[in-house]
Amino acid sequence: MSSAKRILLIIGGGIAAYKCLELIRRLRDRGHSVRVVMTKAAHHFVTPLSVGALTNERVLTDLFDLDDEREIGHIRLARDHDLILAAPATADLLARMAGGHADDLATAVLLATDKPVLVAPAMNPAMWLNPATQRNVAQLEADGIRFVGPAVGEMAERGEAGPGRLVEVPELIDAVETALTSETETQTTGDLAGRHVIVTSGPTHEPIDPVRYLANRSSGKQGFELAAAARQLGARVTLITGPVSLSPPQGVDVVRVKTAAEMLEAVQAALPADIAVFAAAVADWRIETPHVEKIKKGEGAPTLRLTENPDILKTVAQAGPTRPRLVIGFAAETEDVLGYAKKKLKSKRADWIIANDVSPATGIMGGENNTVHVVTVGAVESWPEMSKAKVARKIMLRAAEHLHAKRTAAE
Ligand SMILES: Cc1cc2nc3c(=O)[nH]c(=O)nc-3n(C[C@H](O)[C@H](O)[C@H](O)COP(=O)(O)O)c2cc1C
Repeated sequence: MSSAKRILLIIGGGIAAYKCLELIRRLRDRGHSVRVVMTKAAHHFVTPLSVGALTNERVLTDLFDLDDEREIGHIRLARDHDLILAAPATADLLARMAGGHADDLATAVLLATDKPVLVAPAMNPAMWLNPATQRNVAQLEADGIRFVGPAVGEMAERGEAGPGRLVEVPELIDAVETALTSETETQTTGDLAGRHVIVTSGPTHEPIDPVRYLANRSSGKQGFELAAAARQLGARVTLITGPVSLSPPQGVDVVRVKTAAEMLEAVQAALPADIAVFAAAVADWRIETPHVEKIKKGEGAPTLRLTENPDILKTVAQAGPTRPRLVIGFAAETEDVLGYAKKKLKSKRADWIIANDVSPATGIMGGENNTVHVVTVGAVESWPEMSKAKVARKIMLRAAEHLHAKRTAAE
């Protein structure tokens, strides 16, 4: 028997929902705690009263129930469990999951979770074999969702048989234990499997007019190496990059942006995440009102009025419930590197600042190597010069250890 875990069971609106009562009992017999979210349709098949009596917890359904939000909140619900099990998962639930919907508590939790998700479908064979359902299943498998079943056999409808039955409770329990065990193994190796990492990279281009822009010398190499290192450690990675000429690492989701405002928007759209690393050299200022037409020569030098860009690191580090568990900023300075980095750590409320000296003599901007100082609250660690790939690997390994230590401390 494995050690006790927290399971969030999502019950969908199918005939097989009654089997969940037995499932809950058996999971609790094994020492696991079970919290239940029922879809609205599921209420037609089992009552929250019976489910609540078996779990000893109030059953949750409504995303907009203020009490629920105040007590737990759907984001916490999505994260505070070791496994999310959807059983029975209806054809409609699979479609909504595959489409990334979040229009009820069940789908909002499934979309927001960073925990393993196990799905046990149950439906009429025609629904299961329909190309639309098969497309959705293929998409969900590609997204890393695990499936158990459906089993083949007689349906509740007379005379109907084929694939579509919910697997029996003992098989469900086995699948739950397997999913929990493999999750524990990946967590203890210290890698980033099951984690979402956002990396920003490169410069931003702030338009002056349709053909000119303000920019900086960032090549994006360090950010791309960070994305590659996180991916190598098994994370799902969203790389948000300003204009650069590098090829993105394999297996990474790439979002290309031009301006600081677009970068902030892309970062916010990519949340939630476990780790966010802000390696981009974001322009501090933009032209207040870029010219609509190309500014003509010969009419005297134009006066360009600048205005401040949004502070992406600060915005995300202070984002409340959507703040990633580890927020890492980069500080590129040409003088008093450590002094500025320490100030930045505090004023932005980042967890770590990776500081580097980007004076032209160092060759760091655009170069292959980097010399960094890792600044955390109360400590500075200076690393010797090494390749940007090695810096990236060391940072990501340390980030994985940090999350693992935090998780262990919380247990
Ligand atoms: C009597 C009855 C039985 C149903 N059984 C199933 C089923 O076993 N599987 C399924 O995918 N849908 C079934 N449905 C349809 C779902 O209840 C319907 O698609 C619903 O919108 C699913 O909502 P949910 O995914 O939020 O639970 C059934 C509907 C009725 C009226």
